[in-house]
This record gives sequence, C-alpha cells and structure tokens, in this order.
Amino acid sequence: MADNFAHRAAEWDNPSKTEMTRKFVAALLKKVDVQAAWKAFEIGAGTGLVGLQILPYVQRMIFEDTSPAMLDVLREKLTGDENIEIVEGEVFNYDKQDIDFVFACMSLHHVPDIEAALKHLNLITKKNATVVIGDLRTEDGSFHRFEPIPHQGFDTDKLSSQFENAGFQVLDCDTYNTLLRERIPGTMYQYEQFMLVARKL
Ligand SMILES: C[S@@+](CC[C@H](N)C(=O)[O-])C[C@H]1O[C@@H](n2cnc3c(N)ncnc32)[C@H](O)[C@@H]1O
Repeated sequence: MADNFAHRAAEWDNPSKTEMTRKFVAALLKKVDVQAAWKAFEIGAGTGLVGLQILPYVQRMIFEDTSPAMLDVLREKLTGDENIEIVEGEVFNYDKQDIDFVFACMSLHHVPDIEAALKHLNLITKKNATVVIGDLRTEDGSFHRFEPIPHQGFDTDKLSSQFENAGFQVLDCDTYNTLLRERIPGTMYQYEQFMLVARKL
C-alpha cells in the first residue's frame, strides 16, 4: 500500500499540529472521564501527537496507523517502558475484543469504508466502551488542496446514523475548534472540527 504520509512524517510535529492535537485532547478530557484501567485504541495515530498525551491517563494503548513513516517517528519517541502496542495497517488488523476506549483525531476522513470500520470497532470494543472522533465537518475539498481523499469532512448527522447502525449510541456531537488555513494566497479558509462521543451498546 502506498504511504501517503511518507513525505510528511519527518515534518509532522510542527507547532500547528501540536496546537491542533492539544485542542483535541483538552476537549476530549472535558467530555470523557478517562479511566486508568482502560485499554485504549487510537485510529490513525500518526506520530503519536495525540496518543502520547492520552497515554498517562490509561493502562495500555494501541497506536494504529497505515503509514510506516508516521509510525517510525512515533517509535523514535518511545523509551521501551511504555505499555503500548503498535499496529501497522488498517483497523481490521487488530482483532482482540478488549478495547475500552477508541479515539481518532483527523484520521477518520482518511479511512475509505466508514461503515466497515465502525462495524469492526463494534467487534473489538467491550460493552459501554467510549469512542471519540475529532474531525472536519463537510468541506469543499480545499483542506487537502483538492488531493483525492476518501471523505471531504463529514456530515455529522449521517456519521451519527452510521454509528447508531453499527451498535453505538451517540452521546454528544459539537464543534470544538475552527482551523484557519491559507489555501489561496491572502485568503484564509475556515474549517470546523467536530467532536463526536459515542458509547458501545
Ligand atoms: C491527518 S493525520 C493525523 C495524525 C494524528 N492523529 C495527529 O492528529 O497528529 C492522518 C493519519 O491517518 C493515517 N491514515 C491514513 N489512512 C488511514 C487508514 N485507512 N486507517 C488508519 N489510519 C490512516 C495517516 O497515515 C495519518 O497518520
């Protein structure tokens, strides 16, 4: 599989990404009472900017991502003492049914088949598991500068229905941040980020 993030991995951890992930984690911690006994699973963990902030709050973390290059940057940050596992590949590559907490920051729009992924999340999560998705609301394609991308953000009503159909109850879904990006010289574009919180039934 082509690694679409290979050329970005080394430069990923810049101040703008750090700020973006801090905002996600701050919003998540306001909405979810993260438990020290939880086993967590991050979809599209990348270089670990989000997961390494959540790791101190949980017992064990699975970092999943399709990009070997992004995961190599994560590996360089580890001491070896962390209670973690790295899954290189799609979510379907993890098949233990022991997850208490799933989260994803700006990665779900890269996952081609959302319904299949949610069905798989249902399989690997325990009853009452918490799922938190932070991503873009529907955008015009300019966020990725019109590069092909599986989803140009999400209609959150549709995404909520997909969650419900996959056996989750959506507890909350609102906007937690607005990103500003210069997409045409001198013109700033605004992209709203939503946070959806769901519970496995
Ligand atoms: C925008 S980056 C976000 C990375 C990280 N969550 C962060 O906030 O810094 C999207 C990540 O999703 C990963 N990705 C792309 N397609 C994926 C897929 N089908 N399943 C899981 N992760 C995927 C990319 O390799 C990349 O690391």
